[in-house]
Amino acid sequence: MAAHNVLFVASEVAPLIKTGGLADVAGSLPAALKAQKQDIRVVMPAYRAALANALPLSIVSLNIAGVPEGTRLLEGRLPGTSVKLYLVDIPDLFDRDGGPYVDAAGHDWADNPERFAAFSRTACAIALDQAGLDWRADIVHCNDWQSGLVPALLSRHADRPATVFTIHNLAYQGHFGSYMLHQLGLPQDLWHMGGLEFHGGLSFMKGGIAYSDALSTVSPTYAQEIQTAAYGYGFEGLLGHRRERLRGILNGVDYTQWSPDKDPHLSAPYSAKDLSGKAANKAALQQHFGLAQEADTPLIGLVGRLAEQKGIDLLLANIERIKSLGAQLVVLGSGDKYSQTALSQAAATAPGQIGVHIGFNEGLAHRIEAGVDMFLMPSRFEPCGLNQIYSLKYGTVPIVRYTGGLADTVVDANEANLAAKTATGFHFGDATAAELTHAIERAVGMYRDHNDLWQQLIRTGMKQDFSWRNSAKQYLELYQAALQWRDQG
Ligand code: ADP
Ligand code: GLC
Repeated sequence: MAAHNVLFVASEVAPLIKTGGLADVAGSLPAALKAQKQDIRVVMPAYRAALANALPLSIVSLNIAGVPEGTRLLEGRLPGTSVKLYLVDIPDLFDRDGGPYVDAAGHDWADNPERFAAFSRTACAIALDQAGLDWRADIVHCNDWQSGLVPALLSRHADRPATVFTIHNLAYQGHFGSYMLHQLGLPQDLWHMGGLEFHGGLSFMKGGIAYSDALSTVSPTYAQEIQTAAYGYGFEGLLGHRRERLRGILNGVDYTQWSPDKDPHLSAPYSAKDLSGKAANKAALQQHFGLAQEADTPLIGLVGRLAEQKGIDLLLANIERIKSLGAQLVVLGSGDKYSQTALSQAAATAPGQIGVHIGFNEGLAHRIEAGVDMFLMPSRFEPCGLNQIYSLKYGTVPIVRYTGGLADTVVDANEANLAAKTATGFHFGDATAAELTHAIERAVGMYRDHNDLWQQLIRTGMKQDFSWRNSAKQYLELYQAALQWRDQG
């Protein structure tokens, strides 16, 4: 495909700052698109934590149309790549301790609408060559609600780039009171039922969904699910209406960061050819969490945001069963207070069998992927999910609910798939504790009683290839379509 100028707009980018999978995607997809000859540049807010990780930086613009005075644009490179990175430096809005979206106590920053409106406006100025960079975007690729105003604002320009909006998670919408329209100085003509208005309020997410030329989400199954009331969060009608413009493009992963043969976080590297290092990582993990040092005891892991989405309640309801099965469990996560407390209590009642670490720890996430035998993702919904894909590469068998990207990446160990040697993990259907129990029992049963099949699962999983190449090509096709749709109006 022709080379285009692409501006990739994201609110978190690994390894600069990360709360979840969006950062992994924004940190790796642009390099894959660059390898396909696109002039792609990434723009994100200059959070305090990101600044430190992005050095060296240079100031490239102080003169940006339509943003608060004093806004600076800093330029660097996406670490480990030649992709240009712009950091939107508005100290009042971004130079503070805490996370990108929430403060240290876990509450949303009260000025999030101002923060991400200013960010979006700066992205528009860059795209339209109004930021003094002498560069103009052909395509602007936005991600999630934090950049949802970009397609809306750009829609008002006659000579504008094509816009693509990728939904990573419909549950976070950037929904604010209607008064925000004026407070943010947004144009009145964007305020109507087909525009930014959503149930009487102002929705950043809707800006992306309603105004972009092309839409995507991060797996084919989630693309279908979000057109239903059960998963659509009220957007199912609009998404169904725009379905011709909606694609489900499965996330890729960055195997330079996530491969057990070259992962610097591990105590022993390993590969499908020689799995002995996996046992060493299991022993190290058991030691880290103070678990009994038993090589043959099934060890189950979970890493993730402790949010309703992730089905932590289903795991909590299974703690006693995991104990009675004689399995071990390690959990790494942070999020809602109830889950944090309940998980910590579970660990306190079963030292030696259950280990819990509350917090965010990149290295430990890698060590859990390598050290456990099975990885749990009992998600109520999962747009794509990356951990199950990492698990496959690490010879760790995923146990997942059959939804979203989990359904698209893990093949259930039923008789037919085992016979065809395509099985890689275990599915369960309904989001109930009993269904999860059944899946855990199946996995533990196979681990203990059918080592040959277990080894087959591991090896089939490790052979799977979810690198970006294929998905990056699908994005290029979507960019091409977006240009045509823009021209059709
Ligand atoms: P989501 O984006 O919904 O959080 P994904 O599976 O797409 O889910 O991606 C989650 C990413 O965040 C993975 O790379 C995972 O390892 C990482 N992650 C989540 N919680 C933690 C944590 N507490 N510590 C370290 N990494 C974490
Ligand atoms: C979201 C989703 C997750 C997805 C990630 C990256 O946070 O919850 O399923 O993998 O975005 O697209």
